[in-house]
Amino acid sequence: MIIAVDGPTASGKGTVSKALAAHFGLPHLDTGLLYRAVGYQVSLNGGEADNPEDALAATTFPDDLLDEPELRSEEVGGLASRVSVHPAVRAALFERQRAFATQPGGAVLDGRDIGTVIAPEAEVKLFITASVTARAKRRWLEMTGREIDISLDEIEAQIARRDMRDRSREDAPLRAAEGAVVIDTSAMNKDESIAAAIAAVNEATGQT
Ligand code: DC
Repeated sequence: MIIAVDGPTASGKGTVSKALAAHFGLPHLDTGLLYRAVGYQVSLNGGEADNPEDALAATTFPDDLLDEPELRSEEVGGLASRVSVHPAVRAALFERQRAFATQPGGAVLDGRDIGTVIAPEAEVKLFITASVTARAKRRWLEMTGREIDISLDEIEAQIARRDMRDRSREDAPLRAAEGAVVIDTSAMNKDESIAAAIAAVNEATGQT
């Protein structure tokens, strides 16, 4: 069984995907991490994220870069969003994601284009979303918890910018795949979001 989980930044799709993988005993791939590694590698190379050649050259990042804590930063998230608009970058990362999705036994993948491009045949497609305000508040709580000094307004602006770029790019824009179950987590806490996602998978696969 392939479970495709897509959605905008800070929607809770990462948390939900990890929980689904544990619940259904499936391996999980956070595909955003691949784009983040490319974005970070561009900066290590001294290149420009908006330059297609620089971005493509960075797709050969070493595997251990995926363990780099810096990849989780908001700054690298922005770089990832910028490199991800280049079709050559998306093509270079396709096979790795496709192989993960089609491994025997199935998998959970989360990202922006899993249900639309990487695994359109997925048995279960979820689109996890939440209002910009709800997502900004979550990110703000998480960042202030890590003692990062940033205002809620600034985070809201960052999120809106990232949404705009991810939704408006020509190649594989962020959107709910046809037949995807949309889960709006604005008014849900973590446990409620996970429960809603598990229920949606059970329903989609005919289990109750
Ligand atoms: O999910 P994330 O915030 O870690 O993703 C970082 C960026 O990577 C996101 O803003 C757009 C890009 N991305 C993508 O284009 N396609 C994916 N499947 C996953 C991420």
